[in-house]
Amino acid sequence: MITEHLYADENAAAAIERAVALLCDGKLVAVPTETVYGLAARADDPEAIKKIFSAKGRPQDNPLIVHISDMEMLPLVAEDIPPEVSICAERFWPGPFTLILRRGKNIAPEVSAGLDTVAVRMPSDEIVREIIRSAGPLAAPSANTSGKPSPTNAARVIEDLDGKIDAVVIGSDCAVGVESTVLSLVTDPPRLLRPGGITEEQLREIFPRLVIDSAVLTQLGADERAASPGMKYKHYAPETKTYLVEGSSEAYVKYVNERYDRIAVCFDEEFSSVDGKKLSYGSISDGNAHAHKIFEVLRRVDELESAEAYVHAPPKDGIGLAVYNRLLRAAAFRVIKL
Ligand code: TXA
Ligand code: MG
Repeated sequence: MITEHLYADENAAAAIERAVALLCDGKLVAVPTETVYGLAARADDPEAIKKIFSAKGRPQDNPLIVHISDMEMLPLVAEDIPPEVSICAERFWPGPFTLILRRGKNIAPEVSAGLDTVAVRMPSDEIVREIIRSAGPLAAPSANTSGKPSPTNAARVIEDLDGKIDAVVIGSDCAVGVESTVLSLVTDPPRLLRPGGITEEQLREIFPRLVIDSAVLTQLGADERAASPGMKYKHYAPETKTYLVEGSSEAYVKYVNERYDRIAVCFDEEFSSVDGKKLSYGSISDGNAHAHKIFEVLRRVDELESAEAYVHAPPKDGIGLAVYNRLLRAAAFRVIKL
């Protein structure tokens, strides 16, 4: 298959029009969003949804997020909508925020991998919103090969999926850089299933009884059932054996400089003190920079070709919880405490 490259950065109207035509014809189109690039198909088209799973090599039991452009679309995708939804929507939509609600009848069951719930998000990226306005609600997981770091620019989408999907809309690099926060409102109290751009602190202002799902920071046992199936898989992982290192800058620099043939993934302030192969992912206290850069840095780790990589762990507050959660999985829960 030849994948069409639609340059929204050059001619947005033409790219949007072509993407809509392809989606309405049951095709797969990768689209930019403010979090990560998504691989979209119409949410009411079971055959197109099945193709998403095969293009990504995604496990069949891992459900997809449905993207809407405006609140008027919400009743098309979900039912029994609780009153808290309007408070969340007012604060966090459009934006990096996903709600788990009861699944509506128009949504292909394949989208939710058989669950009676549906994940819904209204992205803020104007190009994808315009596409959704014309094509209708779109199911879209991250546009990467399953298991690899999510793509935060069009080049990484092409690297993984060129020849396997119908088109890629080429837009700007993703501003947030980690996937949306996933909050379940079908449980009482509400449950944070995946941390993201909307922080735990912001959610607690609305939901003081918020529960953080155990899968956010710990590895599920083999027989445990995941509230968010995506959290149980090896994820976001470079080919290079990766470790997450916790400790002061001084301890981290000493530790990596004692190791031969490795890649250090450090903060800007540590960069000049680290020997050998190295990448940095922002200033120590700049959580937004860590989120924006981390997936691209994880992809570059493999390009530097070493046996092992040691990532200095970020602080876990604010958006840092999301970055830490992704790094834990990239490192297959191998954490070194100095
Ligand atoms: O920012 C994002 O959310 C990006 C962009 C493209 O919008 N999408 C994304 O999709 O990250 P994906 O498929 O990579 O992750 C979806 C996550 C998975 O962890 C999945 O298990 C969870 O959402 N999820 C989806 N539907 C669910 C449901 N009904 N119940 C619980 N978890 C669900
Ligand atoms: Mg993903």
